[in-house]
Amino acid sequence: MNRQSGAGRPAVLAIAIGDPVRAAEWRDAFAAAAPDLAVLPADEADPAAVDFLLLWRAPPGTAARFPRLKAVLSLGAGVDAILADPAIPAGLPVIRMVDEALTQGMSEYVLWQVLRYHRREPELAAAQRGRRWAPVAAPLAGERCVGIMGLGELGAAAACRLAACGFRVKGWSRSAREVAGIATFHGPAQLAAFLAGVEILVCLLPLTPETAGVLSAPLFAALPRGAFLVNAARGEHLVEADLLAALASGQIAGATLDAFRAEPLPPDHPFWSHPAIIVTPHIASLTRPASGARSLVAEMRRILAGDAPLHAASRDRGY
Ligand SMILES: NC(=O)c1ccc[n+]([C@@H]2O[C@H](COP(=O)([O-])OP(=O)(O)OC[C@H]3O[C@@H](n4cnc5c(N)ncnc54)[C@H](OP(=O)(O)O)[C@@H]3O)[C@@H](O)[C@H]2O)c1
Repeated sequence: MNRQSGAGRPAVLAIAIGDPVRAAEWRDAFAAAAPDLAVLPADEADPAAVDFLLLWRAPPGTAARFPRLKAVLSLGAGVDAILADPAIPAGLPVIRMVDEALTQGMSEYVLWQVLRYHRREPELAAAQRGRRWAPVAAPLAGERCVGIMGLGELGAAAACRLAACGFRVKGWSRSAREVAGIATFHGPAQLAAFLAGVEILVCLLPLTPETAGVLSAPLFAALPRGAFLVNAARGEHLVEADLLAALASGQIAGATLDAFRAEPLPPDHPFWSHPAIIVTPHIASLTRPASGARSLVAEMRRILAGDAPLHAASRDRGY
């Protein structure tokens, strides 16, 4: 790889990750993936010498401190926090994490949660707690309709995994998409048709002004009574009070939530102890440094060679 910065020196990657253990893991992973890339912590770098900046939950204004950046690299698939930084220079490419391991991890999480609801685990668990022998029949996968909101890198792969298991799968995106074996819908005009009959709804949308608060009372009302929700996207997609009301009324029978408006979820938050809510601590799919660094090195290589990166977020779309 031509890792020259263009100024006759090796390209410099600065890492802005608050957690020092995680930051060290990423430094090692980049050193292994690109041995002659200079990698150092953002606060030790000469700002004018930095070509690329790896960001994760860094304070607003971090990218603006580095005047010669060729791109900002996101440690996660979602770039909402980076794009929300008012100081991020216009036109600076923001590269999303797109990585096979991240995609596989998400598909496994979705499959795990869909199977829990499909096989009626909440009822079985309640029966066991009550020492009740209560056989419940589950339909076969082909009799179960699962809906995936977002048919991007993660949503399309999860949809295909579910379809391969025999589920009837519907998907919803912003623009028209064709995914083999999936019934696809797009845009606000087709949302109601998408939701009709969906018994298990999975959210894998990016967080944008259009998608914030989408998991709300009107959407829950468009699902069949007793549907289940899996939100593995962002906490801001969910109107929390609407979910609690839908659970209380029985419109929604259960929910698995992986992302929250406040993280860590505060100890006194009602979700922790709600009998119909499963809380997981934003682990649906973690980016693994070894494969994640390889993916980002490939993007840096393209940029240094003057080619367009494959996974730049669109400022216009917001994802
Ligand atoms: N919990 C976790 O551990 C975890 C891990 C990784 C990622 N995530 C979340 O997952 C999200 C999705 O990641 P990804 O890589 O799959 O994103 P992506 O490839 O950008 O795909 C996004 C999908 O959402 C659709 N979409 C966007 N805005 C929409 C709208 N207004 N209405 C309908 N559909 C809309 C897009 O439609 P088009 O196809 O028309 O563009 C696309 O299909 C990330 O943004 C992140 O928040 C969570």
